[in-house]
Amino acid sequence: MKIAVVGATGLVGSVMLEELAQRGFADQEIIPAASPKSVGRQIDFAGRKITVVSPEEAIAQKPAYALFSAGASTSRKYAPLFAQVGCTVVDNSSCWRMHDNVPLVVPEINMDSVGPDQRIIANPNCSTIQMVLALSRLHWQYKIKRLVIATYQSITGTGIKAVRQLEAEEDYFAHHDVLSSTLGDTMRQQLGDQYQPAYPYQIFRNLFPHGGDFNPDGYTTEEQKLVDETRKILGDPTIQVTATVARVPVVGGHSEAVNIEFHKEYDLDEVRRLIAQTPGVILADDPDHNLYPMPIMAHNRPEVFVGRVRRDNTQPHTLNLWCVGDNLRKGAATNAVQILQSLIAR
Ligand code: A2P
Repeated sequence: MKIAVVGATGLVGSVMLEELAQRGFADQEIIPAASPKSVGRQIDFAGRKITVVSPEEAIAQKPAYALFSAGASTSRKYAPLFAQVGCTVVDNSSCWRMHDNVPLVVPEINMDSVGPDQRIIANPNCSTIQMVLALSRLHWQYKIKRLVIATYQSITGTGIKAVRQLEAEEDYFAHHDVLSSTLGDTMRQQLGDQYQPAYPYQIFRNLFPHGGDFNPDGYTTEEQKLVDETRKILGDPTIQVTATVARVPVVGGHSEAVNIEFHKEYDLDEVRRLIAQTPGVILADDPDHNLYPMPIMAHNRPEVFVGRVRRDNTQPHTLNLWCVGDNLRKGAATNAVQILQSLIAR
């Protein structure tokens, strides 16, 4: 079986390769594709070297499946061309997610939304995947009315450029005391061309309430994704969702504080049971022993971790919880490869 990975040299793409190797595809023919600057480069896959090709060359090899993580414009241009040669595309970009004819899939929730002839399947946004998975069984049982979300998102969600920015700032501040926390013009001059920030501000010793671009209504595109994608995946356009996304200088994964109002009253023990029984979710909730999910717990793990499960005492039928997932794993690559596994299992 031939499987193309478009964006194979990127952060998510390289984790897709790892996940393919770990999830039973080590012996398959993998076709890595990337931008012209990477064509011809040798990369590792399951202990062997494979050569990066252009998307055109990958299409010419007629792969059965293609995993995309190369940005929305690459997906817009190439996903239909792969589909035309009979390839099924699982696309991690935002390009196709809200199209009526494209299912938006978390396999543990809505694999049944994928028809037998579906050629493009969208992988949801990272912060949406981990949250809807954590909440899915609660929604089925008590029906969610409204969500109020605050996210603390890892820099790895922005790609390699953001990782390089954090590394450059860490190096610089290694020689400065903790209280000199502001990256000034002197530092920019000292670092010169090697400092090409992905963000408008320093991220080391800082955070900002800004993910994606600002829409005219004051919300960001990352916040709007949580609204639209949650409704689509859970199949309920009546769910009210409001979110604030923050970017934090963290590597292991995204964290989210979620306030959930249900239509029906819930039982807290049953809530914990439902979360613990959700495939791919681990309940890590023992305040007496300081047990709660953190990015260092989720890093490189395929599961979503949930803790701090407690009643919101200010209004009826309302719950608070905290969930953490590695945005490069379940939030992106793992989910995409699981979709592929589910397609093949059919
Ligand atoms: P390249 O490494 O050649 O630039 P990240 O999100 O970590 O920055 O990764 C983006 C991925 O998308 C990289 O693999 C990048 O390849 C790939 N990419 C960017 N533009 C294109 C394009 N026009 N065609 C194919 N792949 C692309």
